[in-house]
Amino acid sequence: MFDSGVGGLAVARALRQAAPDEHVLYFADTAWFPYGPRPAAEVRKRAFAIAHRLLEEEAKLIVVACNTASAAALAELRQAFPAVPFVGMVPGVKPAAARSRSRHVVVLATEGTFDGGLFERVVEEFGRGALVSRVVGRGLAEAVERGEYEAPSTRARVRELLAPEVTRGADTVVLGCTHYAFLAPVIRDEFPSIEVVDTSEAVARRALDLLQAADACSPGPGGLSIIASLDPEGFRARASRLGVIPQREEATR
Ligand code: DGL
Repeated sequence: MFDSGVGGLAVARALRQAAPDEHVLYFADTAWFPYGPRPAAEVRKRAFAIAHRLLEEEAKLIVVACNTASAAALAELRQAFPAVPFVGMVPGVKPAAARSRSRHVVVLATEGTFDGGLFERVVEEFGRGALVSRVVGRGLAEAVERGEYEAPSTRARVRELLAPEVTRGADTVVLGCTHYAFLAPVIRDEFPSIEVVDTSEAVARRALDLLQAADACSPGPGGLSIIASLDPEGFRARASRLGVIPQREEATR
């Protein structure tokens, strides 16, 4: 599994819960964080380098636990490694459009996730004609990476970004960046009437389904190891604060 930082740990945590016998190797690309504002070609290059590294470690399935990297590279990864099952992240427009009573949903994501064709296709295919507003969560992934999930400045930023859409009638917010899963409590607190759609658990379940279908489940024991491209000790400390405790960590580029 990989992400630019701590965001994908929400998916790692869900997968550890759903499949405790599996070993999750988590690559945090901290040297290249944040992915959101980078050109797609650059993110794609990192995704390929990381996929190679995970396959060297004998990964049997790769979860691209990052919406930005999924938008930039998921199709290309599948094409380049046809024997490897990939599970990617796509903003949960489908469940949001199904649940929204006002028919107005907001997708909160990075600029990279909105660029390119993947997001457009999802809205077209699953939007059910609902109004889908895009809000770039500028600064939010950085706040989460710094551990400031509940800081007054983060709270203020969440309010500033979402209030205009809520005022216009949006009743559902899609967390379109894995980092934002850790902001769900603050979003619910600031906007109690808003429905928050987080696909971390659905993605973990999808990974488990694929393993089961391929008869590739591990007999255990499961665990979690972390590779970080910069400051693995700092990353481990951040993961632990989020309640995700790795057994092994190392640094690599
Ligand atoms: N966690 C990543 C995502 O899901 C992006 C955060 C970043 O900008 O690196 O999009």
